[in-house]
Amino acid sequence: MPAKPPPLSFDAARGLAVLRTPHSVYALRTGADGSPRHLYWGAPLDPAELAALPAHASPAASSFEADPAPDELAPQTGARFGPAGLQVRFADGTRGAQWTLAGHTVGDHELRLRLADRRYPLTAELCYRVRPGSDVVERWTELTHTGGAGTGPIAVDRLDSACWTAPALPDYRLSHLVGGWNSEFQLHRDRLPVAETVLTSRRGLTSHHANPWLALDDGTATETHGQVWSTALAWSGSWRITVHRDPVGRTSWTGGFGHEGLSWTLQPGETLHTPVFAGLYTAGGFGAASRAWHDHLRRTVLPEPDRDRPVVYNSWEATGFDVDLPGQLRLARLAARAGAELFVLDDGWFGARTNDRAGLGDWTPRRAAFPDGLRPLADEVHDLGMDFGLWVEPEMVNRDSDLHRAHPDWVVHAPTRDATELRHQLMLNFARPEVAAWAHATLDRLVRENDVDWLKWDANRVVTEAGWPGHPDPDRLWIEHTRAVYRVMDRLRRDHPGLRIEACAGGGGRVDQGVLARTDQAWTSDNTDPVDRLGIQHGFSQLFPAQAMAAWVTDSPNVTTGRATPLRFRGHVAMAGALGLGGDLARWTEQELAETAELVARYKEIRPLVQRGRQFRLTAPGGVTGVHYAAADGGEHAVLVWRPAARFGHATAELPLPALDPTARYLDLQTGTAHRGALLVGRGIDPRLPAGDYASSLIRLRRISGPCATTGR
Ligand code: DGJ
Repeated sequence: MPAKPPPLSFDAARGLAVLRTPHSVYALRTGADGSPRHLYWGAPLDPAELAALPAHASPAASSFEADPAPDELAPQTGARFGPAGLQVRFADGTRGAQWTLAGHTVGDHELRLRLADRRYPLTAELCYRVRPGSDVVERWTELTHTGGAGTGPIAVDRLDSACWTAPALPDYRLSHLVGGWNSEFQLHRDRLPVAETVLTSRRGLTSHHANPWLALDDGTATETHGQVWSTALAWSGSWRITVHRDPVGRTSWTGGFGHEGLSWTLQPGETLHTPVFAGLYTAGGFGAASRAWHDHLRRTVLPEPDRDRPVVYNSWEATGFDVDLPGQLRLARLAARAGAELFVLDDGWFGARTNDRAGLGDWTPRRAAFPDGLRPLADEVHDLGMDFGLWVEPEMVNRDSDLHRAHPDWVVHAPTRDATELRHQLMLNFARPEVAAWAHATLDRLVRENDVDWLKWDANRVVTEAGWPGHPDPDRLWIEHTRAVYRVMDRLRRDHPGLRIEACAGGGGRVDQGVLARTDQAWTSDNTDPVDRLGIQHGFSQLFPAQAMAAWVTDSPNVTTGRATPLRFRGHVAMAGALGLGGDLARWTEQELAETAELVARYKEIRPLVQRGRQFRLTAPGGVTGVHYAAADGGEHAVLVWRPAARFGHATAELPLPALDPTARYLDLQTGTAHRGALLVGRGIDPRLPAGDYASSLIRLRRISGPCATTGR
């Protein structure tokens, strides 16, 4: 039997690098000009097929055409006229790099190609990583000024993590996430124009408006079928991805941190590391792509993927800024009765923070609200059997705060520009070491003094009038602020091993694989309306697993939309993620509280499936959607089904469950009926939706081996 080829190989004679994952191959070749060129990304190839890949790109058709072979990172020289992934200016004004391949290293799972400029002291390492059992290829770039002291600096106007290329397809369709505050993660699936399409955030945060994830297909892929090429950038600040479809049928996309117009100065001896831009090929449609991403996040991104996400109670929608000890204790007792495992005290507990105009930055408990500090609340929450969580917004400050009065220079600002206030607040410049050190010390003290188990780390504004007075390279702010946030989070987790962190930025304004590498889940959206949430959660699930998606059951009518919905529907929608409660429980009836406790109990039963299972998105005629969570071994299944609006004349159809094993039999745990897998896969299951609008159900199935007493379809 021929030996299994290694995951990574580099044939120096041919300049050919091959990366193999269980269901894909990625190949590139160093071109005659020293630049690595994309060769192949798709279904596995056997050695003969690999050898048959073209040795050289075909020549340009005319002197007006772009260089034909797509770059792994376009260096802004040669006959290249698409978006450049690397843009540099040397001290003498020369632009762009011209490479020679200066070396390579191939480890078990990591390949590095070292490119050196032919005349200037600059190297770039193009880095590739594959992990056992995963189809994700991780890529990043390390750019080094190799000159000695006294060599002029190099201006870096763009440094992307990677450029990806899809094969020639009859057509291209782009799937991406757009939205805004209260409407994050809206999935758009549009035909890709023959043009450059820019997906970006210029806000210094990942943003509510776009997410650095995309998927490309030929326009025919479905949830269950078709080839999909998908990529995601692990970065929580500004970013840009430019997708370039040319008129002769090629599509590449280059992406990385920073938006257009920024410039970073590379000093002699310095290296600029980009974030990881990961890519994934699947032949199994959008559902398989999502499951592969979820798997990737669980294996390599989330810090503690196997730890249950607790059922949270959060007081924000109940009390807003009107917080005090008696009110929070009352909610905590009700939350514990309902089955919550974590109580989070949200905004308004500190400084002069009785509204959003003052006190942000002054992280000591507000005396009028908590005369003896937070300890009495934390202790009682712990006595009630719950963890204690605290809302913080460490990167922000109100002008009207002791912190700003003491350190007006700590904010991101340009002295000759008027600073725009958003939500009456300014942003602290974490890129300044003393600011990040202050934030770390403040949070560390709060956690220690109050036995805090959970921090909800919020950020309610974006960067404007960016400046860093006195710093020679002020655009560094856009990178260094984000890196400093990461460092503070990492250090807190290291020093407090039990501590968990929830990412939040006015809802889902900072959700990406960068922040999720140091947080347990993200607050998905301030919009808790269950109907709106269905769309938000659908988009979120394209890339992120359900355990990272915080979802609360809140009051009806909903505070955002005014829509009234039944508790059962609200519960079933929130149970599709990391369940939480966020309503004013003090105003709920005994019956509502009992129903909530029942929903929470049901959730805890299916939590291993929702939080660690495989996720399959479902649709059926009549506006019915659902999500099926299956245990990894296929034994247990939970299916949540929703129909927001009943339609006249539409009988509720059966809901096919294509992820089940057609050769198996399944027991419906609610009805005791046994079903043949083949029928559940082909025809579907009766979703048992009640009549009317806002109908929902939870179906639980267990795989059984032999025939059952009750025999259904
Ligand atoms: C925005 C968050 O998304 C909310 O959940 C809440 O924490 C508020 N900030 C508090 O100001």
